[in-house]
Amino acid sequence: MTSLSTLSTTAPLWVAARPQTFLHLAVRTYSGVAVTTFNTSSLARNRSSPFTYTSKRFISSTPRSQIKEYFPPPTTPGVKEVTSAWVHPVYTESQMESVKIAHREATNWSDWIALGTVRVFRWGMDFATGYKHPEPGQETSEKFKMTGKKWLARFIFLESVAGVPGMVGGMLRHLRSLRRMKRDNGWIETLLEEAFNERMHLLTLLKLAEPGWFMRLMVLGAQGVFFNGFFLAYLVSPRICHRFVGYLEEEAVLTYTRAIKDLENGQLPEWNELKAPAIAVQYWQMPENQRTMRDLLLYIRADEAKHREVNHTLGNLNQEVDPNPYQTQYRDPSKSHPSKGIENLKQTGWERKDIF
Ligand SMILES: [Fe+2]
Ligand SMILES: [Fe+2]
Repeated sequence: MTSLSTLSTTAPLWVAARPQTFLHLAVRTYSGVAVTTFNTSSLARNRSSPFTYTSKRFISSTPRSQIKEYFPPPTTPGVKEVTSAWVHPVYTESQMESVKIAHREATNWSDWIALGTVRVFRWGMDFATGYKHPEPGQETSEKFKMTGKKWLARFIFLESVAGVPGMVGGMLRHLRSLRRMKRDNGWIETLLEEAFNERMHLLTLLKLAEPGWFMRLMVLGAQGVFFNGFFLAYLVSPRICHRFVGYLEEEAVLTYTRAIKDLENGQLPEWNELKAPAIAVQYWQMPENQRTMRDLLLYIRADEAKHREVNHTLGNLNQEVDPNPYQTQYRDPSKSHPSKGIENLKQTGWERKDIF
């Protein structure tokens, strides 16, 4: 039953995207969900049950019966929790603050193909999520103003697409290894882990907003086209595909950097009190004093910067014979090498000669 007091907070929040009336995100409040004051016992409780933290408040005009949990907690008797094989590396605040917008110059025709394709994608994504990128000096203009809801719509669409390439690349390398009866030298794991990481971004963002049917339809269409397109492209040229993902991640870093700036400039007051959901606190192992919305965006942006580095690096390698530099034990540990964290982050990737 919906009480009167609940009704007052159940107005739908419409996202200015095309078509305006069809794409809405019902932003969820976090009074019952936020994990602001974790004590040891609540953290332990949270750890033991990654997906059951929420006492989600119903604030959408969508009938309650239509609101359903994405990936609901396991209800099988006897199951305490479901764990993941991939533990996220710990990022420090200063490491995350040092992430920069960067661009790797295209130097040959295959780079230009990758960059050109990303620019077309960028146009499509801007169109789909109602985003206009301001020219320098126009950031505060009303025409380019982004609200929290518009940012979340963009993030959710972006992340639903971003989880595809790692899975396709990992799957094709897996199949190639089976087919040719040869070792893969460590690439598959990093690619699948990237896909997992992107899906965690999506699941985290879905705790902040719920997409309407038009957004779901766009995600479905984008996945159908992108999965198949990327699958075929990866068969033809994995190197161009990794370069393409590197450029795509440059755009992701740009997007999150701009959202962080908007938040810092006070243009997103609705995010001031928002806290990172428990799923994020657990996944990134966020310290107690680093669980604001800004912190969450810093974590996600750092992941995108890592994907940017990883994919530009993989795009610099010999796809057939080089081992994955992120799964390699090096003979000379005193030299700096690619690593899983962002302590040695190279914004535009590692050159092959600097790795091996
Ligand atoms: Fe992401
Ligand atoms: Fe990414």
